[in-house]
Amino acid sequence: MSEQSPLKYFISGGFGGICTVIVGHPFDTIKVRLQTNDKYKGMLDCGKKTIQKEGVRGLYKGMSAPIAGVAPIFAISFFGFGVGKKLLQQDNQPLSNTRLFLAGAFSGIFTTSVMAPGERIKCLLQVQQGSGGEQKYKGMIDCARQLYKEGGIRSVYKGSLATLLRDVPASGMYFLTYEFIKKKVAESAPKDKPQSKTREMTGTIFAGGMAGIANWSIGMPQDVLKSRLQTAPEGTYPRGIRDVFKTLMKNEGPLALYKGFVPVMCRAVPANAACFLGLELCMMLLNRIAPNL
Ligand SMILES: *[C@@H]1O[C@H](CO)[C@@H](O)[C@H](O)[C@H]1NC(C)=O
Repeated sequence: MSEQSPLKYFISGGFGGICTVIVGHPFDTIKVRLQTNDKYKGMLDCGKKTIQKEGVRGLYKGMSAPIAGVAPIFAISFFGFGVGKKLLQQDNQPLSNTRLFLAGAFSGIFTTSVMAPGERIKCLLQVQQGSGGEQKYKGMIDCARQLYKEGGIRSVYKGSLATLLRDVPASGMYFLTYEFIKKKVAESAPKDKPQSKTREMTGTIFAGGMAGIANWSIGMPQDVLKSRLQTAPEGTYPRGIRDVFKTLMKNEGPLALYKGFVPVMCRAVPANAACFLGLELCMMLLNRIAPNL
């Protein structure tokens, strides 16, 4: 990505987020169906049966909620990266790898401050069992209200440190990996003519997929700890994330920190490739129609 204004990052990031959901949602539908139903033999079987019975549309059920949630988060995340890059830029030189990492980490602080309560509420709603009337939380607002009533603002923000420990390094590696691979692909092009469009697009897809792997590889252990902390009954872990870590290592060993790694990657690679492809196309369009934005 060349140096762009934060506003362009905001718009293109939001569009990238929409592309992420369009590519990632079928994987999510399959995951949820596998989790809640045992009539499927595996991912492929579930995908095939869903398409046979309901058409491709079956894989896209329930997509509006994630689009509404993901687009703004991606917009904020890329906006944060754009601001971070601007802050770290020195006399129009390309940013060093360290600075790219720091700009990405800065974006992680940005998104955490917006997302931490949302993560707590999302995780609590995701793990509650039962249906309709017998559920503890009726929805997001109800959950936030109950948390606030029982434990004040501290309870709503429980797990913020864990979210920060996840998002700051993961986001730094995410953006650094993308920019680094894009640069390497561009540099390896024949010197005598400009990089072909096909080559640039292939580079975007590859770099985007690798960025997805980098993000999750760095953030997954903290993500596991965070989810457990945020969904545990009050008082289970008096010293917070440190206690979660100790208990997990004692009872399950370090591999538990990477539970579900393969299905996560199956989704993250194409979803993030789509994200950056959408982002770059949107950037290109914005640069053409509104160069001074
Ligand atoms: C990066 O990983 C975290 C979990 O560590 C996840 O919540 C987030 O959605 C991922 N971001 C992207 C852009 O894939």
